[in-house]
Amino acid sequence: MNKLSIILFLMMFSCLPCRAEEKTKLTFLWWPDPGGGFEKVISDFENENPDIDVEMIKGPTSTDTRETMYVTSFLAGEATYDMVLMDIIWLPKFAKQGWLIPLDDWFTKEEQDEFLPGDIQGSIFEGKIYRVPLQTDAGVLYYRKDLLEQKGYAPPTTWDGFVRVSKDIQNPPGLWGFVFQGKQYEGLVCNFLEILWSFGGDVFDEKGNLILNSPQGVEALKFMYNLIHTSKITPAGVTTYEEEESRHIFQEGHAVFCRNWPYLWLLSQRDDSPVKGKVGIIPLPHKEGNRSSACLGGWGFGISKFSKNSEACVKFIKYISGYDAQKRLHFKSGIVPTRKALFEDKDILEKSPFFSELYQILLIAKPRPVHPDYAQISDILRRF
Ligand code: GLC
Repeated sequence: MNKLSIILFLMMFSCLPCRAEEKTKLTFLWWPDPGGGFEKVISDFENENPDIDVEMIKGPTSTDTRETMYVTSFLAGEATYDMVLMDIIWLPKFAKQGWLIPLDDWFTKEEQDEFLPGDIQGSIFEGKIYRVPLQTDAGVLYYRKDLLEQKGYAPPTTWDGFVRVSKDIQNPPGLWGFVFQGKQYEGLVCNFLEILWSFGGDVFDEKGNLILNSPQGVEALKFMYNLIHTSKITPAGVTTYEEEESRHIFQEGHAVFCRNWPYLWLLSQRDDSPVKGKVGIIPLPHKEGNRSSACLGGWGFGISKFSKNSEACVKFIKYISGYDAQKRLHFKSGIVPTRKALFEDKDILEKSPFFSELYQILLIAKPRPVHPDYAQISDILRRF
């Protein structure tokens, strides 16, 4: 090798690391992704965009813990997460603190109209939009169609009927009447609010006065307590359950009813699920004379103001919130899309026939109190 070729050889190799470094790396924090839908969509995106690497950090299952992780990194002024996959309730706080970039320039009103209205409203703070909705959520009741049919019961609509049916069918400890999210965390607040609303109560009235301690509020709380202690249709262990614990108990055939989010449906219909073909979905029951209620939940992408890669973030967020990606996320991870048109998609309706009813529930699902101090409100509620 002469001198010139040695120099050329060295130059070639010294450039390789530079090329690898040219890739833009994007990060966000999410939960363990049951079903693997996010992994699939991310790898499809990376194949189409070889200059961008997206790293999904799999965090804890609880929304509270993930919120703390995001907040800790914001407070330190760090770009640990370029994108913020946000629970709908975090938005007022994150936006007020100035931790997010407004997205109005590219997420136009026209495009926003393609999404469910509640999810868009929950993404706006003081007139600006900070979040592109990706997954919508509303509390629903899953029930064992086969077990109710065997005893000749129609799906219950009132709480009284619900308790009666549960008591009659259950056979604890192998088969409990009802499981839900009872651990002291945000999920419990959602479960409680749905019961509170379905008894005709609320946290605040329209003028912002606290009305939690109303007769309806007391009755709702007693009802919840009685599920474990009086009617005994719920195991005492429910105080340790989040979404996944209650899903597993139901999916493994150990509960007649389960309150959960819509993601449970497709996971319970997989070939390896013991309850495949035996599950029905209905709105949550209500107190006689009141209306059924559902808590609005959901997740969407924002961009951290500390990120140095906001352009690449926009590219990724547009991709993952698009029609096709949301459809793939639904089929793999069971998550409910936020684009209105997907509720009429024939493939989705074929696999998840309850989608048209779910759409009606989503349109009336109630948001939790929208407040920059929501975290404190929720913290007080869950200590009851
Ligand atoms: C679901 C909802 C979210 C809610 C959480 C509670 O992930 O989408 O809004 O805060 O459950 O556990």
